Amino acid sequence: MVHNVLLGVIGGSGFYELSGFEHVKTVNPETPWGFPSSPINIVKSKTGLHVAFLARHGVGHRYTPTEIPVRANIAALKSLGVQAILAFSAVGSLREEIPPEDFVLPNQIIDRTLCARPNTFFPSGCVAHVSFGDPFDADLARIVAQCAGALERGAKLHVPTVDHDLTVVCMEGPAFSTRAESKLYRSWGASVINMSVIPEAKLAREAEIAYQMVCMATDYDCWRKSERPVTVNEVMTHLSNNTDNAKQLLTQVIKLLEPELRKGSIGETLRGAVQHGIQTNHAHRD
Ligand code: ADE
Repeated sequence: MVHNVLLGVIGGSGFYELSGFEHVKTVNPETPWGFPSSPINIVKSKTGLHVAFLARHGVGHRYTPTEIPVRANIAALKSLGVQAILAFSAVGSLREEIPPEDFVLPNQIIDRTLCARPNTFFPSGCVAHVSFGDPFDADLARIVAQCAGALERGAKLHVPTVDHDLTVVCMEGPAFSTRAESKLYRSWGASVINMSVIPEAKLAREAEIAYQMVCMATDYDCWRKSERPVTVNEVMTHLSNNTDNAKQLLTQVIKLLEPELRKGSIGETLRGAVQHGIQTNHAHRD
């Protein structure tokens, strides 16, 4: 058993392994929700921080966004002791100023999934409503933002400000959006779109794990007049550069994050949050 694995990293499309770190062990914990999408690789930073890496879509990209066993993924990371998750995801851009290969640190989410994904750990009969007004962790966001300089090839990291949210829309898929949908999301002020942040962010909140997504633009979706609708080929072209940049970013982030994780200050405000969110529990009544 590997103890004190404080950080979890979830890799999205194109990001299937975490190179550049010492490999410690591969584990595949069975949870009450089944096995995670892929075995989890535990690696060690130069200063000894254990990091758990999980490929969201599984080995060989076997799960569609709708099929990903997200509860098992989050529960498996929790069982290793993870206190914070950095989740990487390919996204379409809904804004001119976010070209493919730029990165975005969203601070808000619009859920456009179609109720097809189990999105809570609570059993039927247990009425629980965790706070989700700010779905991402501000401490993790602050640290990632400090590492913007790690991105290469001119890629920019877009960060939210007090006056300007950066919102990720999560759609069900697997087909991409229509032009009308894409324009609608722009009219709502959204910045990027993917198929992965929900229910991952909700389940991390229920598990009291600090969670931040790092979005990596692969395309302009289909809202631009001059743009042909997004294709898988277009997405694939940018994935490999994005993955290289994700790894550079992560190396820097781990250096800054490690002392705070060891102090236990990341996700401090989440501890006990679920207890306050549970209103009644009929599930275990006679
Ligand atoms: N992932 C990458 N590009 C996307 C897009 N345009 N829409 C939804 N998910 C995506």
